[in-house]
Amino acid sequence: MPRHLLGIEGLSAESIEALLDLSETYIDTSRSLVKRRDVLAGRTLINIFFENSTRTRTSFEVAAKRLGADVINMEVAASSVKKGETLLDTAMTLNAMLPDALVVRHQESGAVSLLAQKVNCAVINAGDGQHEHPTQALLDALTIRRRKGTLRGLVVAICGDILHSRVARSNIHLLNIMGASVRVVGPATLIPTDIDRLGVEVHHSMRTGLRDADIVMMLRLQTERMSGSFVPSTSEYFRFFGLDQEKLKVAKPGALVMHPGPMNRGVEIDSAVADDLKRSVINEQVEMGVAVRMACLDALMGGRRNSVAGVV
Ligand code: NCD
Repeated sequence: MPRHLLGIEGLSAESIEALLDLSETYIDTSRSLVKRRDVLAGRTLINIFFENSTRTRTSFEVAAKRLGADVINMEVAASSVKKGETLLDTAMTLNAMLPDALVVRHQESGAVSLLAQKVNCAVINAGDGQHEHPTQALLDALTIRRRKGTLRGLVVAICGDILHSRVARSNIHLLNIMGASVRVVGPATLIPTDIDRLGVEVHHSMRTGLRDADIVMMLRLQTERMSGSFVPSTSEYFRFFGLDQEKLKVAKPGALVMHPGPMNRGVEIDSAVADDLKRSVINEQVEMGVAVRMACLDALMGGRRNSVAGVV
């Protein structure tokens, strides 16, 4: 039976640690002059992105190629989807080409797991609607673990458009599983009313939300998912919820600033913070993304399928 990575929810702390440990070995591979390991030689991976993506799609492609796999990028804009083909017909067509894995991003929550039930290969969720984006949470965890030594006991403030964010949801699950405390910070219009059920503290002010935080994770205002107006104006939003040096002062002195990208400078984050290399680990997150995706592809498509337990 193929195994998939559809979300963080339901993974065990042991399997997350195992994936992070495996990722560490791939940081070394990526930093070497020869960046190629033949772990996935002869395997085929198809990237299917129904939503625009630059960093995630490229990151999966770089990761798969560093492991020796053949990578095909399906351009949905130019595909039969535009001619009216359904998601499942597209999936079945690609499935018939016998890939070893599909990496799928889709605008509807749940679409990737629906697809995973129909195909014979491993499926990795590269973001489904507002639901999950598991490899983003894993790369964030790897970045934090390398900087802070552990996730356990840290206070993490996730700030901004929580409502529309699959990154927030996957991170909340992962951080809870790993024993961190999670705060969500934002205007009431951008925080789901039942979010406390996920085991987070809710704050509507950056001053209380960031107080003594170890990690400040900023999110983009996902206007493409908004119907109607959720914030009065972007300048007003920046004044209250945009991260600048002043608001950051209440966090711990060594607090790290993170952002999954793409950033909207001057909306959710000030350039002076985003580019402050003493605080910002935004580029490090991108580097860790490749290592984490190498680990996930290895775990799902490679020969060690049994040693990274619990990935379902
Ligand atoms: C995020 C996404 O697509 O969910 N980006 C990413 O994968 N790096 C966040 C976003 O689009 O704001």
